[in-house]
Amino acid sequence: MTRLQGSTPLSRRNAETAHPPLVLPDLAYTPEVARETAHLYERVARVIPPIEWPGFAPYIKAINELKRARNAVVLAHNYMTPEIFHCVADVVGDSLQLARQASKTDAEIIVQGGVHFMAETSKLLNPGKLVLIPDSRAGCSLAASITGAEVRALREAYPGVPVVTYVNTPAEVKAESDICCTSSNAVRVVESLGTKRVIMIPDEYLAKWVRTQTKVDIITWKGHCEVHERFSGEELRAYREADSGVKIIAHPECAPDVLAEADFTGSTSGMIKWVKEHQPSRVLLVTECSMSDNVAVETPKVEFVRPCNLCPHMKRITLPKILDSLVFLKEEVTIDPRIAERARAAIERMINLNH
Ligand code: 13P
Ligand code: SF4
Repeated sequence: MTRLQGSTPLSRRNAETAHPPLVLPDLAYTPEVARETAHLYERVARVIPPIEWPGFAPYIKAINELKRARNAVVLAHNYMTPEIFHCVADVVGDSLQLARQASKTDAEIIVQGGVHFMAETSKLLNPGKLVLIPDSRAGCSLAASITGAEVRALREAYPGVPVVTYVNTPAEVKAESDICCTSSNAVRVVESLGTKRVIMIPDEYLAKWVRTQTKVDIITWKGHCEVHERFSGEELRAYREADSGVKIIAHPECAPDVLAEADFTGSTSGMIKWVKEHQPSRVLLVTECSMSDNVAVETPKVEFVRPCNLCPHMKRITLPKILDSLVFLKEEVTIDPRIAERARAAIERMINLNH
C-alpha cells in the first residue's frame, strides 16, 4: 500500500469528526435479528445452509444499520462470498462496473469488498472520500507481478509503443501507463489507440486472448493470476467427457489451452450475463469459486458444476472485518499524490472511452 507519512488526510479527519469511532454492537442471534434478516436469508437459502445463518445474521443487521448511520456504501466484487454479495453490498459487479459506480456515489465513505487494487481505484476516482478496505493484505498475484520501474524499462525497450495496463495493478504502475483496461473492455481499449502495436501488462493470458480478437500486435508480460492459472485444458476435457451437455464459460485470465475448451470467454460480468441469458441446464464457470454461488442465487434452474478454486486475497474480506471497518473507520486507503494524478488519468481515459 502507498501511504504518505505525516498528518491524517482531510477525508479521514472529516469523517472522524462527523462519525467518531463507535463501539462494536451486540452480535447475538436473537429472535429480533432472525426476524429482521429473514428476507435476506430467503434470498441466499440456496447457497447458505440454515446452520450457518445465525453466524452471519447479526453481522449483516449491524453492517446495514451502520452503513446508514455513517452514510457509507459497500462495493462488492463478483468474487465476494454470498453473505456479503447478496446481504450487505450496495453495488456489485466486475472491476469496470465497480470503478464506474465508485465515481458516481454520493456516500461519504466507501468500503471496498474486493482486493487492494480495486480500493485504490475507488480512491483515485474519489479523492475527497474516505475509502476503506477491510483487510489491506488483500492483494493480487497480477498486481504483484510488475513495478513502475519495470514499466519504464519496457518503454525504453519499445520506444513510442503505448502501454495498456490491466486494472489489476498498483497505482504506481497505472501512473506509468497510457490507459487502463479491464477484461470486459480490453479489446476495445487496445484498438482505441490506433497503433499497430501495444504493450499490454501484466496479464500474459489476457493479452494472448486479446491477440486472438484483434489485428493489433501485442507485447506481453509474464504476470499470471494464481487462481485462473490453476485450471487446465485437460481438466476441462475430462468434465466434458463425463457430461457432454455441460457448458464451459471461462475468464480470459485462464491459459490459452483452457480458453480453447470454453463455449464463451468473458469478464466476470460477461460470464454472469451469458448464464442469465442462456439458462443452460448445467454450467461450469472457470473462475473464482464464490461467483457460482452468487449467480446460483439468481438462476435457480441452472445447475453449477464447481471445480472450486478460491482467491485467497478476496477471501480475506469477511463480514466481521467489514463491520470493524465501519465501526473503527479502518483500513484507510491512501495514494501518494505524486503518482495519484497520473494513475487517475489512465483510469479516466478508459472510463471515458465507454461513454
Ligand atoms: P473482472 O474485471 O472480470 O471482474 O476480473 C477481476 C479479477 O480480479 C478476476 O480475477
Ligand atoms: Fe488477483 Fe486472481 Fe485474485 Fe483476481 S482472482 S484478485 S486476478 S489473484
